[in-house]
Amino acid sequence: MTTDLSDYAIIKEGEAEILMHAKNQVFYNKTQVNNRDISIAVLRAFIEKRKEEHEARLSKKTKTAPKVSEKDASNSVVEEVSNESDIIDEKTNGDCGVAAEISQEEPCSISEEPNKVTEGKGQVELKPPRVLEALSASGLRALRYAREVEGIGQVVALDNDKVSVEACRRNIKFNGSVACSKVESHLADARVHMLTHPKEFDVVDLDPYGSPSVFLDSAVQSVVDGGLLMCTATDMAVLCGGNGEVCYSKYGSYPLRGKYCHEMALRILLACIESHANRYKRYIVPVLSVQMDFYVRVFVRIYSSASAMKNTPLKLSYVYQCIGCDSFHLQPIGRTVAKNSSVRYLPGFGPVVPQECNDCGKKFNMGGPIWSAPIHDQEWVTSILSDVKSMKERYPAYDRISAVLTTISEELPDVPLFLSLHNLCATLKCTSPSAVIFRSAVINAGYRISGTHVNPLGLKSDAPMDVIWDIMRCWVKNHPVKPQPPDQSGTVILAKEPVLQANFAEPLRL
Ligand SMILES: C[S@@+](CC[C@H](N)C(=O)[O-])C[C@H]1O[C@@H](n2cnc3c(N)ncnc32)[C@H](O)[C@@H]1O
Ligand SMILES: [Zn+2]
Repeated sequence: MTTDLSDYAIIKEGEAEILMHAKNQVFYNKTQVNNRDISIAVLRAFIEKRKEEHEARLSKKTKTAPKVSEKDASNSVVEEVSNESDIIDEKTNGDCGVAAEISQEEPCSISEEPNKVTEGKGQVELKPPRVLEALSASGLRALRYAREVEGIGQVVALDNDKVSVEACRRNIKFNGSVACSKVESHLADARVHMLTHPKEFDVVDLDPYGSPSVFLDSAVQSVVDGGLLMCTATDMAVLCGGNGEVCYSKYGSYPLRGKYCHEMALRILLACIESHANRYKRYIVPVLSVQMDFYVRVFVRIYSSASAMKNTPLKLSYVYQCIGCDSFHLQPIGRTVAKNSSVRYLPGFGPVVPQECNDCGKKFNMGGPIWSAPIHDQEWVTSILSDVKSMKERYPAYDRISAVLTTISEELPDVPLFLSLHNLCATLKCTSPSAVIFRSAVINAGYRISGTHVNPLGLKSDAPMDVIWDIMRCWVKNHPVKPQPPDQSGTVILAKEPVLQANFAEPLRL
């Protein structure tokens, strides 16, 4: 079949070009360039990291007698040859109603079967990473990965929509020989494909319409040990508490409405991925978690280890949020006690809050569980950022992604969620101190504080809520407020004398 180019507009993004039909039935979203650029930056970092880890493993093996650790044993490079029966002909997939002609009409580059795993036991050669773009639409993302990421292996692009697969195949051809040799397109239900290709992809990319929840169970099984899962969720209304019960049914967590809801969305998604991973004795290590535009996107590595999995309850918490003053408190699900040289895993002590808020006397809503461990690996963030800066011209969304990565690199990594200075002042009905003045008081009180990429007005701090309110009480002493009704949260908070005398002078290390 020949393509009459006059029916199409050519869209260029990065080094890829796609043909967009005048009727444009295939999904393409220009603003997702930020998402694709960040993903390319993370992929580049992953490839470097994977190489370093491989070399470290090799030098360890040559220095010591051969001993295969749990993590090494399951690494992709020493993985056993997969069973022939694992390779499923997608044409028989009833779920997506595949028509036979679609995979026959375009022989160029499009294999009928995904590549088989060829690594044998004991083999030490590091194969280029295989990437699965599970929900590929026009193939733009897959094409950008193949054309722009040095050292990348085969990119398998799936879609269960026939028109999208036709477009993807057309676009592969249009992008020339590198694309033809590296990108293969299949009409398939991504869930079936991932389930039937366990631990086969070094990278799995999920970029769905709305929620990724139905893809997570199969995706966590399809990633090799130490591999990378990249996952977008665009159902922000659900994740941010518009319909808490819907969020619970999709993700297993209750969201809370509040200024930090977008960060909570990231943490709900991470908790959900972890829970799916745990079902298969696997666990996640987040490397980067981003909220941008109208979506959240997380990048997590996946490992297998029944013993490391015991730590999961230590990384999850419920969130108590006061309905009067927006104070929030984390309730960890689990804790450990060290006994001699061993560690015992126990349920978390609770509740961490009384029935009524210590600050204003109102009740609490409870949300979660959320991922309360770090959502980024700051070492990765630093190296991704410096890499992005060194190839500025290769990222069409450079300004945006470098700004986001810079803010992320400055975030306090161990402080979940954040305060809103606006909300604190709205509760007290007072004028707002500048962010610099407020930050100064927190630092002078002996605590840490940072911004957050999620909200330009958000402030992350390890200062407890009573310290935060004391700082605000001191501020109000110098900037008095009009009297408010006695039952108002602000009135109750201001009725208490501050224990701490806040110092608003700018410290040297701000
Ligand atoms: C948001 S679009 C993907 C956009 C693409 N990743 C990009 O960056 O341009 C989601 C795609 O997933 C496809 N899809 C939805 N459910 C699917 C399933 N179960 N299996 C495979 N593809 C699916 C849709 O047909 C659609 O083309
Ligand atoms: Zn309160």
